[in-house]
Amino acid sequence: MRLLVTGGCGFIGTNFIQGVLTAHPDWVVVNLDRLTYAGNRHNLLALEREQAGRADPNYVFVHGDIGDRALVLSLLEEHRLEAVVNFAAESHVDRSINDPAPFLSTNVMGAQNLLECARLRGVKRFVQISTDEVYGSLGAYGTFNESTPLSPNSPYSASKASADLVCRAYRETYGLPVIITRCSNNYGPYQFPEKLIPLMFLKAKNGDPLPVYGQGTNVRDWIWVGDHCKGVELALTRGAPGQVYNFGGAAERANLDVIRAILKALGKPESLITFVKDRPGHDQRYAMDFSKAARELDFAPSLDFETGLAQTLNWYRDNSAWLESVQSGAYRRFMDEWYGERA
Ligand code: NAD
Ligand code: DAU
Repeated sequence: MRLLVTGGCGFIGTNFIQGVLTAHPDWVVVNLDRLTYAGNRHNLLALEREQAGRADPNYVFVHGDIGDRALVLSLLEEHRLEAVVNFAAESHVDRSINDPAPFLSTNVMGAQNLLECARLRGVKRFVQISTDEVYGSLGAYGTFNESTPLSPNSPYSASKASADLVCRAYRETYGLPVIITRCSNNYGPYQFPEKLIPLMFLKAKNGDPLPVYGQGTNVRDWIWVGDHCKGVELALTRGAPGQVYNFGGAAERANLDVIRAILKALGKPESLITFVKDRPGHDQRYAMDFSKAARELDFAPSLDFETGLAQTLNWYRDNSAWLESVQSGAYRRFMDEWYGERA
């Protein structure tokens, strides 16, 4: 298969590209990434160097924006791409609270540009990577299924829900073979240290206070990133156009429990836990019913949370140079501003 993967230098995109090219060495991936603060070309540099100069390389990196019509059209044509997998997004809820505009620009308008280019070039599959956050927030009971009404609460989740609706419109109006996947919280290698698990690892390692929003009782359903990537591959190869598939890890954990597990694994004291001002509009609980993906795609999470967390912490321990390199000036400025206000 010949794929346009967008946002492939981010957390999930990097894991996806590594996974599919290992499993399918005959596939071709063109990775279009704007390299925002969250994108790191070095993640796949070894692959890029190995393929450079080949007549028909199976991995090509292109620095650019998903909103660039001429660029996307030319890539689809030049590389004879059959499918699009759209990971590119502004992905951090807290940043969307500070400034929603880039979220609407990339996550909605950027996605619409990709859809339009796919339509113009007759692409055979378009997989939109969405999120469980489009469904809103759960109380103590129940799960989200694919028919749960969309009820996003943050500018980030509103932008993702909007993109889902535009995807639906392209399917209904133009017959574009769009598939939407909605997944819960990923964890694993290459996650940017603004998200809970790598941020808490970093703080704990440095002996800094660990900022817990509210009471730390919010619940997320954690999934190993490799399992999400496998689900996306299954949706791409076996999914039915027009369908939505939920993926989850069957691993609901309260934030405080996750943070305590990290402290324990690193041998750090719980006195580092610091309760700070809550995230505005903070969703209380996410939990996924992924029985449709299990039934129709043969999807199943492979790794339990405790094993996956241990592997993740080991990866960050072994890759301290990576962790250091992604903390640019822009990263530090956001951290100072956001957590400065919450202290
Ligand atoms: P990330 O922030 O780590 O990576 C996003 C990537 O997109 C970066 O490489 C960035 O440079 C690139 N990008 C941003 N704007 C771009 C643009 N205009 N043009 C081209 N590239 C651009 O995000 P992630 O955590 O890897 O998430 C990937 C996708 O999966 C997102 O769509 C997100 O909404 C979705 N998702 C994430 C999770 C999660 O737990 N992280 C769960 C469910 C769904
Ligand atoms: O559910 C899928 C979503 O998961 C994805 O769509 C998003 O792209 C991804 O960022 C993630 O969103 P969350 O907001 O759930 O993830 P985050 O890691 O930012 O926060 C997880 C929980 O931890 C949440 O309840 C807020 C809390 N938290 C987070 C940070 C960064 C804290 O208590 N303190 C913190 O410093």
